[in-house]
Amino acid sequence: MGLKKAVLIVGGTSDIGQAICRRFSQSTLPLIMTYQKNRKVALSVKKSLKQEGRHCEVLRCDISHKKSIKTLFSRIRLLGFRVHVLVINAGVKDDKLAVQMDAHSWRSVMRVNVDGAFHCIQACLPGMIAKKSGAIVNVSSIAAISGQVGQANYCASKGAVISLTRSLARELGPKNIRVNCVAPGYVESGMIQELKADPDLSDYFNGIISTMCSLRRVGEPDEIANVVFFLASKQSSYINGQTIIADGGILM
Ligand SMILES: NC(=O)c1ccc[n+]([C@@H]2O[C@H](COP(=O)([O-])OP(=O)(O)OC[C@H]3O[C@@H](n4cnc5c(N)ncnc54)[C@H](OP(=O)(O)O)[C@@H]3O)[C@@H](O)[C@H]2O)c1
Repeated sequence: MGLKKAVLIVGGTSDIGQAICRRFSQSTLPLIMTYQKNRKVALSVKKSLKQEGRHCEVLRCDISHKKSIKTLFSRIRLLGFRVHVLVINAGVKDDKLAVQMDAHSWRSVMRVNVDGAFHCIQACLPGMIAKKSGAIVNVSSIAAISGQVGQANYCASKGAVISLTRSLARELGPKNIRVNCVAPGYVESGMIQELKADPDLSDYFNGIISTMCSLRRVGEPDEIANVVFFLASKQSSYINGQTIIADGGILM
């Protein structure tokens, strides 16, 4: 018997990741989510989906290690699935001014946000190419476009995600595999709570929301999940290589 099509959400434990899992759980395809450290959160997502009558497989993966990605894909196959929709939501930051940026801070962000994303995509490709269908959605950030003080590593990595999206869309489009990207602005999450709690950064943050953000509010994780879902669905069948900015109208 052939492998069944599934959706794989890499990094399903974050606030945005959980919203993406909830959104995809409403579709007909089986759902697989990964966690790296937050097993407890992953299992609570699984439990709450189960209470709603929906099923979700939970697997661990550290995308900064190719071996861990290889193991993830072997487990997916053992479960009887092949990845038809891949969402790379996992991402890290390690903020420092450029002058103080050490090699570890630079490399650790690149290893997850760029290398990890690429290796996950690469692992999906043989199956998608064989079936001549698939959709990949990457998660970047508006910081990739606007730049951000103290985030040279993060901004460069998220810029690479946008370039990777375009390049792969050209390469894979002829094989009926679409690759798109979402660039969120400020979204209600642990990161935003940290910004609000930091006396040095909260004024700056409130200033951006009250003057630069035309909707004058932070986004909800569900509002990002809806865009990710749209880009993975047939509703966006003629969209390829695009980065959709979902920031309440900061960048225009
Ligand atoms: N929050 C925002 O306002 C905002 C704005 C723009 C863009 N984004 C982007 O949106 C995405 C989600 O953001 P968030 O704030 O919700 O994330 P977050 O709370 O910082 O969580 C990061 C996610 O990445 C996973 N992860 C971290 N290192 C990993 C690794 N080595 N291997 C596999 N998974 C790993 C984490 O898994 P565990 O929890 O299991 O360790 C978690 O699911 C990120 O790509 C972020 O850059 C967020």
